[in-house]
Amino acid sequence: MVIKKVCCIGAGYVGGPTCTVIAYKCPEVTVTVVDLSQERIDQWNSEDFNLPIYEPSLVEVVKECRGRNLFFSTDIDTAIQEADLIFISVNTPTKTFGLGKGRAPDLKYIENASRRIAKIADTDKIVVEKSTVPVRAAESIQRILQANNKPGCSFEVLSNPEFLAEGTAIRDLLNPDRVLIGGDETPRGRRAMEDLACVYENWIPRKKIILTNTWSSELSKLAGNAFLAQRISSINAMSAICEATGADVAEVAHAVGTDSRIGPKFLQASLGFGGSCFQKDVLNLVYLCEALNLPEVAAYWHQVIAMNDLQRRRFANKIISSLFNTVTDKKIAILGFAFKKDTGDTRESSSIYLCKFLMEEGAHLNIYDPQVVPQQILSELKYPSICDDPKKVDRLVTIFKSPYEAIKDTHAFVICTEWDEFVTLDYQTIYNSMLKPAFAFDGRRVLDHDNMQQIGFHIETVGKRRNMKGLNGYTPVTP
Ligand code: UDX
Ligand code: UDX
Repeated sequence: MVIKKVCCIGAGYVGGPTCTVIAYKCPEVTVTVVDLSQERIDQWNSEDFNLPIYEPSLVEVVKECRGRNLFFSTDIDTAIQEADLIFISVNTPTKTFGLGKGRAPDLKYIENASRRIAKIADTDKIVVEKSTVPVRAAESIQRILQANNKPGCSFEVLSNPEFLAEGTAIRDLLNPDRVLIGGDETPRGRRAMEDLACVYENWIPRKKIILTNTWSSELSKLAGNAFLAQRISSINAMSAICEATGADVAEVAHAVGTDSRIGPKFLQASLGFGGSCFQKDVLNLVYLCEALNLPEVAAYWHQVIAMNDLQRRRFANKIISSLFNTVTDKKIAILGFAFKKDTGDTRESSSIYLCKFLMEEGAHLNIYDPQVVPQQILSELKYPSICDDPKKVDRLVTIFKSPYEAIKDTHAFVICTEWDEFVTLDYQTIYNSMLKPAFAFDGRRVLDHDNMQQIGFHIETVGKRRNMKGLNGYTPVTP
């Protein structure tokens, strides 16, 4: 089958950019992205291109394709009916109740999408899992589709995980390290994999397109994210040792990363990783191992999450202890709420947890982020597991439109997201506007610490002890 019409269920961070790039690179393919949310679709269709997600270069590519061969709609049934190939890109959050609570992914949206396809489709379809799913989810999708099969209509289910990172989504989609397609090892399965591969071959060299069996493809996505998260937890574990000994984690990361077998990427110590994927996918892997009766393997991967939790807690403790062991009624500015720069996404952002710990101590927080809307910040902080009393959030949190205004008259500011603009702020003016002693906490290691100290700041960061003989009375630990 030559794929002429593609439908994507789910117009989120994955479905939206992925299908935009497919439409951009395959002008002869019609791509329709559908979603249950009218509001989201209206944003994708907005005249002023006020898109629901912020991604560098996304607007430019949408401008080029929308209305040409890229369409956004809530008419899910028509899009399913007309498509040769359907991507399922709905969200798969970690379950918050019931069996597997806190670990297993919630597959209800995937199941709903599969049932809808089974009900509506009356011609052959290739159904592609784009969402991250547990290993063997394709089997469940296939069973749902088959159980509702109409005569003369068959379905082939493929796994085609997405490896884009937010903030660099368009770049990653245009030039991926690889495209992974998993399918059944049958002639029909093979043909479906080739059909999908042909779509990608419009812009991706064939040697970068990897074909595997379905379970390898599903597991590779979890494994990829688990390995990346593990690297960050490993360097963050080293940062704790650095802070206790006088070593500098940046120097350690550089020295370690120059070994070509290890490589330099994903060795940036921070206040902990965030994002919708790492924690969810590692927990998904842990749950899978437990279900497979592999408790030691589960415990091994779970430690990646435990280390991340510890890193967030350690950083909050550093702030509290530096501020003379109390932040109650003190004003602290939080710079950055997104889980990384160049995105407005806040899911599992470490900023949320830092704010939680500081609110528990009664600190007043002035929050600034260049991309996250105030409503989003407040709804994250009012989530019951973060703060049990929404009124407390209203009392303690103020959101600002300028970093200078946010920091004015505070005891301390904390860099939580590595936005480029934080590097070039006028820190002398900022210092002058703060209460003294003025504290700066660099959770992303983006500031010039010597310069900050010269200005007069008491500066603390991750993985390096700044104030050898300062307020904390540092004495190196000798073995
Ligand atoms: C993706 C993946 O699909 C997920 O598995 C991965 O781990 C993280 O990234 P993402 O695109 O980030 O999810 O999710 P989100 O931005 O929430 O978008 C999902 C969209 O699907 C939403 O717009 C939601 O309205 C839509 N949806 C959900 C449907 O259209 N139908 C449903 O039944 C459920
Ligand atoms: C990740 C994977 O990179 C991507 O392949 C997958 O498809 C989805 O999950 P994403 O979560 O969007 O992408 O961003 P990523 O760049 O991986 O960053 C995740 C978190 O780790 C961020 O909070 C980031 O700040 C943090 N991080 C990253 C570090 O703390 N140190 C690093 O060295 C790298």
